[in-house]
Amino acid sequence: MNPQNFNPVAEVDFAFYIIFGVSIVMLLGISATALWFVYRYHHTRNPKAEDISGNLLAEVVWIVIPSLIVMALFYYGWAGYKALRTVPDNAMNVKVTARMWSWVFEYDNGKRSSVLYVPKDKPVKLLMTSADVIHSLYIPAYRIKMDTVPRMETYAWFNPDAEGSYDIFCAEYCGLKHANMITTVEVMPPDEFNKWYNGKSKSAGAGKALALLENYGCLSCHSTDGSKNTGPTFSNLYGKKQVVELPDGTKKQVVVDEPYLKRAILNPQTEVPEGFTPAMMPYKDAISDEDLKTILQWFMHGNEVSLDAGRELMM
Ligand code: CUA
Repeated sequence: MNPQNFNPVAEVDFAFYIIFGVSIVMLLGISATALWFVYRYHHTRNPKAEDISGNLLAEVVWIVIPSLIVMALFYYGWAGYKALRTVPDNAMNVKVTARMWSWVFEYDNGKRSSVLYVPKDKPVKLLMTSADVIHSLYIPAYRIKMDTVPRMETYAWFNPDAEGSYDIFCAEYCGLKHANMITTVEVMPPDEFNKWYNGKSKSAGAGKALALLENYGCLSCHSTDGSKNTGPTFSNLYGKKQVVELPDGTKKQVVVDEPYLKRAILNPQTEVPEGFTPAMMPYKDAISDEDLKTILQWFMHGNEVSLDAGRELMM
């Protein structure tokens, strides 16, 4: 079989409909037989029970037919599984890192994004891992769902054969904001994708910092407009006095300055702002020095640029 001809969506759907169809026939057949027996063998119609020592035909039928059905179900299930696990040679690789509670997609040229941009008609292979706990990448439109596991690489692939926007969910309960761990696959015309792929991220200070905060997933827990969320809002955070709790339970007051922000980003579990839960894993190995500097600059020099402006600059 040529893997280029595999169409996982069609194979998976076919296996589903075969199993569904067989189940419906069985449900109706067994229910009708049971009802017929209730009527036919009611004690008023059959006052005497009868002993049957054996029936060769019945035994052959109920062994052979279910065996054939089970083998057929296995065959179609196996064909669907093969299609899902056999990646075409011309697939484009995208590295996926899941973390509480966002997705980061990284391309061969080092470009990162929190949305999965792909060109139409080019198979995509997702090489997946997790920075903290087990998550699961689920794209219903492409019939793929695969766990992302810390210190392990898993994979999945799909063929984006129609332009559009398709949901990505986390399908493994991973903590407080599991339900918010959603993003999309954006299937674009190839030339539009190439423009995005080869485009330099504009580095106008605030926009770049916001794009980084978005791409690193910070904004799924921290707002930039003062609204309440799982983590403290970034709005007017710099210079604020704040009570933090140390790992031994003691409290102290700190000023949110550059050294504190650096500690809070790299090691968020050591000085936790009062009233918040230290759910995040450290960003120590995940964030580059240059990106950290850009983000700290943004905190220091005001964060007046809106998130939408940051999104535009990311494109
Ligand atoms: Cu990640 Cu649920």
